[in-house]
Amino acid sequence: MNIVILLGPPGSGKGTVSEHLCRKQHGYVHWATGDMLRREVARGSAVGEEAKGYMKAGELVPDGTIIRIVEARMETMDCDRPILFDGFPRTLRQAELLEDSLARHGAGIAAVLLLEVQPAVLIQRLGGRWVCQDCGAVFHVTNIPPKVEGMCDHCGGKLQQRKDDKPTTINNRLEVYTQKTEALIARYEARGLLKRLRGDQGLEKLAEKINILLA
Ligand code: AP5
Repeated sequence: MNIVILLGPPGSGKGTVSEHLCRKQHGYVHWATGDMLRREVARGSAVGEEAKGYMKAGELVPDGTIIRIVEARMETMDCDRPILFDGFPRTLRQAELLEDSLARHGAGIAAVLLLEVQPAVLIQRLGGRWVCQDCGAVFHVTNIPPKVEGMCDHCGGKLQQRKDDKPTTINNRLEVYTQKTEALIARYEARGLLKRLRGDQGLEKLAEKINILLA
């Protein structure tokens, strides 16, 4: 298993660039803990019931729950393609647990890609984001608009706004990132794994730079 971690604040483009890389290159697998949790909430599972209050408020779901979900996925996965971890780990505890888990699977982290974007751009992006309710593809009302308003380019599904993309929740998510996740930058930088990328460049250019870094 070859792990690439995408690190960056809410709205930095982690999901969009991961999806783009998987769709265009088919060389990567995308694991987003936010998507996994939203599926659990939609299913009404015990994990979903536990997570939904935290997600609605823009708070982090407890570390124990997250690591259980990721480990369960790892157990069933025999993957020779690089896995893009999007939104995980998000705390120092999650990072430690991930490293333990990877060591047990004989795997390691190949690189950590940090997407850097100014706060004002993040707020503009999250406020205008539309997501396909069927395939999860992500659009933006002006930055990356769908060909037909309200309809997914890829599967024709209906586009909707995320419940946590409301102004007060967006501000809290950005604050939580600063308080709990930013510490990971120093951890991975000290280990020589961190690669900084401008997340405010065009999607094609960003994907191309990532491909070069990971080649
Ligand atoms: P999650 O779903 O992971 O949300 P997030 O980290 O807040 O990140 P986002 O999905 O909001 O942003 P993104 O960086 O993927 O940006 P996107 O590509 O969509 O987590 C949601 C919640 O789940 C958390 O708050 C927490 O409660 C819980 N959770 C998840 N993981 C957890 C964990 N490990 N531990 C604890 N709790 C966890 O892009 C945003 C917008 O910008 C889009 O509209 C897009 O079209 C546009 N855009 C993207 N790239 C570009 C570009 N290059 N140019 C112009 N526009 C762009």
